[in-house]
Amino acid sequence: MRIDIVTIFPDMFKAVLDESIIKRAQNKKKVKIYVHNLRDYTQDKHKKVDDRPFGGGPGMVMNAQPFFDAVESIKKKTRFKKNLTRVVLLSPKGRKLTQKVAMRYSHFKHIIMLCGHYEGIDNRVSDYLIDEEVSIGDYVLTGGELPAMVLLDSLVRLIPGVLGDKKSLIFESFQGNLLEYPQYTRPANYAGMKVPSVLLSGKHNDIESWRKKKSLEATRKKRPDLLKNKYFLRREK
Ligand code: ADE
Repeated sequence: MRIDIVTIFPDMFKAVLDESIIKRAQNKKKVKIYVHNLRDYTQDKHKKVDDRPFGGGPGMVMNAQPFFDAVESIKKKTRFKKNLTRVVLLSPKGRKLTQKVAMRYSHFKHIIMLCGHYEGIDNRVSDYLIDEEVSIGDYVLTGGELPAMVLLDSLVRLIPGVLGDKKSLIFESFQGNLLEYPQYTRPANYAGMKVPSVLLSGKHNDIESWRKKKSLEATRKKRPDLLKNKYFLRREK
């Protein structure tokens, strides 16, 4: 998979790209990630990427031109094929990111993410340039950079071979519509707080039934809404 991110704050991405699973996925050549500075694509001689809104009103509006040129340039550099690529604008007006949405994106070969800033991105970007708008939740952030990192993380870990243990994908929270069962590690007794004895029993069938029961219990108690969604999320190769 290739991911291109277009932003006015490229440095914000350094920490996320250089650590942990995302770094490992790049080292293992499972994903190539390129961060582009939107200002490199502006035709304005002062590198400006915004202007006053037509019709008046507060704040500035990001110009369409640098976004169009950035996407055009990325498409030229890659062997762009419409059905293998998704151009996504991160915006609170978008469709809400869920595990199901992440799963769908993880099948594309190429994702181009555009980071806007809320009180203004020329609407021709969402009308004519992008395939989809994605929101990470019903709250407004100062820009699309943190949401792009969230989307990036949710996608990269779904690429086959990125996580070491395939089972950990299948049984984790949301993957099968249930929350994850409780996990414990050593010591078995920490300051009087004991690990459920079934987990120390070595009886694999009992452990499996206990985990299923706990998953269901946790989902009913904490997220009963998940039990109503009938989608099935196992990723197929
Ligand atoms: N930009 C600002 N707020 C956002 C949100 N909640 N999701 C995606 N992009 C955003």
